[in-house]
Amino acid sequence: MMRHAFLTGCWIMLLTGTVWSDELVSSDVVPLTGMPPAQLRLFLQGVETDWRATTGQARGVPQPSPRAFPDDAVRHPLPAPETLDQPDVPLRQAIAERRSRRSFGPQAVSLETLSILLWHTQGITGSVALADGTALSLRAAPSAGARYPLETYLFVQSSDALDAGLYQYDVAGHQLVELVTDTALRAALQRACFGEPFIYDASVVVVFTAVPIRTEWRYGPIAHRMIAYEAGHATQNLLLVAEALGLSACPVAAYHQSSLDRLLGVDSVDEFALYLIALGWPPAGTEP
Ligand SMILES: Cc1cc2nc3c(=O)[nH]c(=O)nc-3n(C[C@H](O)[C@H](O)[C@H](O)COP(=O)(O)O)c2cc1C
Repeated sequence: MMRHAFLTGCWIMLLTGTVWSDELVSSDVVPLTGMPPAQLRLFLQGVETDWRATTGQARGVPQPSPRAFPDDAVRHPLPAPETLDQPDVPLRQAIAERRSRRSFGPQAVSLETLSILLWHTQGITGSVALADGTALSLRAAPSAGARYPLETYLFVQSSDALDAGLYQYDVAGHQLVELVTDTALRAALQRACFGEPFIYDASVVVVFTAVPIRTEWRYGPIAHRMIAYEAGHATQNLLLVAEALGLSACPVAAYHQSSLDRLLGVDSVDEFALYLIALGWPPAGTEP
């Protein structure tokens, strides 16, 4: 059966001229720094061929499973967003006033605030019935084919309800799953971000990671730019809600990839960091 699917895939690739493989062969990987700009730009340009019949989904490969957390994981339920007082800031105002703000005061970020931020960023906002009778949850930010390749991690550095450490947002349960509690993570995260002082000062640093196979399974060679689009969608939601709440927030792409991946406990191959957002209350006496 597997062999049949593989051979069918090979034939489809020969017919369409598209070379797409789910296999990750590390000896074939060329570092980005060794590529000419024209090659790098292909990432944004997509492909010329009709790749649709070559994907894992088209070849009958089972779809990747969503993230599951161990039964004995320590969970911190987040208050339901509809039970919380939320700022009544017009979207136009949040867009007009949003700035990247890199000054943070010591005030802790509460579970209520994290609940509002995370629900508007990756929370479940609806569902759609599938042909097989199951329901597919839909989220606050769009995702190509509703594949949801992003995972959301939080380095909590100052909170009134959580110990300092690394947590992961469990979307289905609207809760935080505790991964590591360790005050030393704060300095380690700053080092992974090339020593940037505001990373240390932030109360919370959100990191979106990518799990590419979820999107590759359906979209093959155009999956990667879709995943990048999606990190932008999710991040923009987070930044606008932070602005509406009066928080300071700054998106960050300047980090050392494998150092950050190590702190997150992800393998840099099947999952890796994609985008960071430093968050916190502005210092006393300053407007956000
Ligand atoms: C993809 C992306 C990556 C960024 N990375 C960083 C960063 O690593 N460090 C930083 O201080 N600001 C970073 N920024 C913030 C930009 O410097 C900021 O958006 C820009 O100066 C415009 O200012 P504004 O966001 O206040 O409108 C990033 C912004 C984007 C969109």
